[in-house]
Amino acid sequence: MQSFTPPLVPAYVVLLHTPVTNRNGKLVTTSVTNMDIHDIARSCRTFGIKKYFLVTPIEDQHELVERILAHWRTDHSREYHPDRVEAVSLIRMARNFDEVKTAIAAENEGQHPEVVLTEARPLPNTISYAAYRKELIDRGPKSKPIAIVFGTGWGVSDVFHPEVHRILAPVYGPKDDIERGYKSYNHLSVRSAVAIILDRLFGQ
Ligand SMILES: C[S@@+](CC[C@H](N)C(=O)[O-])C[C@H]1O[C@@H](n2cnc3c(N)ncnc32)[C@H](O)[C@@H]1O
Repeated sequence: MQSFTPPLVPAYVVLLHTPVTNRNGKLVTTSVTNMDIHDIARSCRTFGIKKYFLVTPIEDQHELVERILAHWRTDHSREYHPDRVEAVSLIRMARNFDEVKTAIAAENEGQHPEVVLTEARPLPNTISYAAYRKELIDRGPKSKPIAIVFGTGWGVSDVFHPEVHRILAPVYGPKDDIERGYKSYNHLSVRSAVAIILDRLFGQ
């Protein structure tokens, strides 16, 4: 695989708590989880992501996350957990996806991001990780920003699809091997999916 030479393409991670679906395919808004805040921030910092947006319209959730982030701004945290502080400093809250696009444009000379959806289900017109990684390398660090979108609940609702420019292929493990009694499975936690996908796109 080709490797990047810094600086990286301007890449952003977005975690949607709406519009996502529940187990019955119904449109819902999920709650922010503490693990998603910290673990995804650390993956973002590891792979050179510029900002990590948590999207929820729920005001209480904004207050909750701000309280958690305030803890990581204290002198004590800076002294004892500098690596964690560095990672969570990438986090930004947004009420909807328009706010994300506006924030990204504001730090990229007005350019809105190319929106890249991740999805465990096989959808038409997906691009492989190797192909998209090569595209990003060819475009170079001065190219338009990209926003890589992840879901919560049972995944990003189809109502979000009009926002999407590219869809990454699902991450798969080994294929079915019925003779040996092995059935494939690809329902990753969002934290694992972020780490795997960022490594495939930006890892050395
Ligand atoms: C459906 S949510 C599940 C959230 C769940 N509450 C959890 O355990 O984290 C997981 C998100 O991670 C990504 N994801 C999960 N499995 C994936 C796969 N096999 N390939 C690509 N993306 C995947 C997608 O963005 C998906 O919306």
